Amino acid sequence: MKGEFSTIYEWNSNLEIGYPIIDAQHKGLFDTMNRFFSSCYYPYEMKREDVEEALLYLEQYTKEHFETEETIQIESSYPEYNQHKRFHEEFKIMVRGLKSDLERKGPTRELLGQIEMAIASWLVDHIEIEDMKIGRHLHRINEIREGLARRSGVVAGDIAISTRNDDEEAGDAEIPIHI
Ligand SMILES: [Fe+2]
Repeated sequence: MKGEFSTIYEWNSNLEIGYPIIDAQHKGLFDTMNRFFSSCYYPYEMKREDVEEALLYLEQYTKEHFETEETIQIESSYPEYNQHKRFHEEFKIMVRGLKSDLERKGPTRELLGQIEMAIASWLVDHIEIEDMKIGRHLHRINEIREGLARRSGVVAGDIAISTRNDDEEAGDAEIPIHI
């Protein structure tokens, strides 16, 4: 991947969910998106292999980021885990479709516009709506744990909190949560 890219989509603090690992990865995701869109539009002569490589990199980065998010959701018994994972799977399917369109049609202006709309709007909406819910969930758990610690006089990190998960296998087993 080339090191330089233009900032087409700017990260802002309204997109922070308040969980450092996820926020750092979301910022990285914006950089990755900007790399991809830079490869589409700058310089004005688009090279097919640059666009394909940049989309592959975006796909890979997104996949790893989703895995991190899903692990955090499982470990914290996030009640909307199944639905959230479904959204991630839908995104991956959409990117696979866009990749095959790119292979078939090449980087036409029309297709690149469609890819930009699809990826950027999906990711921004997903962070603003769905990932924010994870942030609130983790914040709530933290508050409960700190409240319990204050009342009982033990260290908050040693308290295990039971939360209900919509995943049947996970049930409502008590698991330690380290946030
Ligand atoms: Fe997500």
